[in-house]
Amino acid sequence: MRILSGIQPSGKLHLGNYFGMMSRMIEYQKNHELFCFIVNLHALTSVFDPETLKQNTLAATADFLSLGLDPEKSYFWVQSDVTEVTELTWYLSNITPFGLLERCTSYKDKVDKGIPASHGLFSYPVLMAADILLFQADKVPVGKDQKQHLEMARDIAEKFNRVYGETFKIPEPDITRDSAVVPGLDGQKMSKSYDNTIEIFLPEKELKKKIMSIKTDSKTVEEPKNPDENVIHQIYKLFVDPDQAGIMAEQFRKGNYGYGQAKQELYKVVSERFAPLREKREKLFSNPSYLKDILQMGAKKARAIAADTLEKVREKVGVVY
Ligand code: ADP
Ligand code: TRP
Repeated sequence: MRILSGIQPSGKLHLGNYFGMMSRMIEYQKNHELFCFIVNLHALTSVFDPETLKQNTLAATADFLSLGLDPEKSYFWVQSDVTEVTELTWYLSNITPFGLLERCTSYKDKVDKGIPASHGLFSYPVLMAADILLFQADKVPVGKDQKQHLEMARDIAEKFNRVYGETFKIPEPDITRDSAVVPGLDGQKMSKSYDNTIEIFLPEKELKKKIMSIKTDSKTVEEPKNPDENVIHQIYKLFVDPDQAGIMAEQFRKGNYGYGQAKQELYKVVSERFAPLREKREKLFSNPSYLKDILQMGAKKARAIAADTLEKVREKVGVVY
């Protein structure tokens, strides 16, 4: 089975990205064909500083590699290095109904947040559909916020197959209940654009500060608390096994267990998970030429598959003569 997903280099990667997409991709790599890429063309819809985009791209590369992505075993590349995707986007654009894009809620959300209402932002889902269909992916691991984009990719694939004959596999979204929406410091969805993230590779001191700044209600230490209603427990649960999560939940319910104490526990498990990888991550990030070599190798492998699909598509739409 072919597993594929991408991530935007629009900021530093955080625990929402980790549980919604990255850790699951790395797990899939053990038994499946994995396609993982950094979607810098998508990030151009919101990042207008070239140096920032370059740095974020290399940072995301270092993050994935230090978390265990194996570039030999998998396909790991930067979107703009496989330009076939932009050609496919055009073919798909011409069978994508305007109304389908108009119904896209993430476009409206992004414009409300101040991202310029460009043509690129409006047609973002078509480029994403091209990403997926170009590689004939079976399954796409993402967080819940990407559900509508995935439905659009399926609609676009079905429409193309109807118009031009069977060409694309219809991809399945892969969203798990536990990590569908990881909450951020303020209880909203953790997101680079809400300034409420806990980045994966923060220095220890900053990590602690961030965790200590998680917003809670004003219940006293003595009062019983509902673990399902607080961000500390919701994030903690993702790091530990159900028994250990149950112990914290019970302490909250019984009372005499303060938020400060719970934050210390959370800090401990987050730090235990990522601290051992931090040195490796720093080493990788400080060696851009090594990272670029890895990405070039990935692009070469990915391009071979992309070219194959694109050749079939050109034939179908009639741009060969
Ligand atoms: P952001 O909202 O921070 O810009 P992206 O849109 O780049 O994140 O998301 C990259 C991947 O991480 C997507 O698969 C997305 O669904 C997932 N993801 C992002 N934030 C969360 C979250 N808070 N909970 C679960 N998954 C998330
Ligand atoms: N839209 C996705 C996000 O913001 C990123 C993305 C681009 C993607 N192309 C993709 C995800 C293809 C899965 C498959 O997170």
